[in-house]
Amino acid sequence: MEEETNQEAVVELQSKVDETQLRLAARKRRRRSIVVTQKVSKIYGKGVTRVSALKAVNLNVKKGEFIAVLGPSGSGKTTLLNMLGALDRPTAGRVFLDGVETSSVPENRLYQIRRNKLGFIFQSYYLVPTLSALQNVLMPVLPVKGSDRYYRRAERLLKMMGLKGRMHHKPGELSGGEQQRVAVARALILNPGVILADEPTGNLDSKTGAEIIQLMHWLNKKRGKTFIIVTHDRRIADSAERALYLRDGRLSRIPIEADG
Ligand SMILES: Nc1ncnc2c1ncn2[C@@H]1O[C@H](COP(=O)(O)OP(=O)(O)OP(=O)(O)O)[C@@H](O)[C@H]1O
Ligand SMILES: [Mg+2]
Repeated sequence: MEEETNQEAVVELQSKVDETQLRLAARKRRRRSIVVTQKVSKIYGKGVTRVSALKAVNLNVKKGEFIAVLGPSGSGKTTLLNMLGALDRPTAGRVFLDGVETSSVPENRLYQIRRNKLGFIFQSYYLVPTLSALQNVLMPVLPVKGSDRYYRRAERLLKMMGLKGRMHHKPGELSGGEQQRVAVARALILNPGVILADEPTGNLDSKTGAEIIQLMHWLNKKRGKTFIIVTHDRRIADSAERALYLRDGRLSRIPIEADG
């Protein structure tokens, strides 16, 4: 008798779990697409130096997703990120960012789109060595009017990153993790919806890397930022909502063994 009741409870619980999963899946489907590629290919060079770096890549990233892009060295990860970030043009295919086809926008308008919609984080931070942390965070907005407002925002962001006491330090006076946090703050200064990161933990020790990962997840959960992160870091891959695998310029859903 007791066993029967238990079984009923289990069945009921299972159906509740199923229901929740269906609801979550439906909610995910309803989310707006924010980064889309259609058959994107990229060929570098000509003749004997010709490299087919991306081959007909189709991608649909929804707003608020946290995505890891994995694959061996040379598989096209950075090339893909350059296409998504409108830093380079595909040889064929189309790239959409927030509904705008960036692959067909003239070069002189791309800058504006990148500036307003995207934040970039790189492995080697790319901070300007002669500028303070605060000035580095302000780099993307200078020189513009209303920089007072940005100045306050930059301060707020650096405080949020735990760098209150480091605002006037130059990059050379900061640890790797601190420099990367400055770079994250710089990526956020114009409040972009999408953050593209290329090996953001690549230069960091394990503990500092973990802090950056935590920070990115926080920005994803609490601020709704969409993250697309190229990485060899298992911790990012394991904690991502979705992992994409590149091999020889092709996207696959199947994990690649011996990544790296
Ligand atoms: N500017 C370029 N000109 C010519 N070939 C290039 C160029 N950039 C990349 N490639 C080639 O395209 C392929 C993909 O390069 P990509 O930089 O996207 O790889 P990756 O997956 O980011 O590798 P890694 O993990 O080493 O950073 C490689 O074979 C590379 O040699
Ligand atoms: Mg790369």
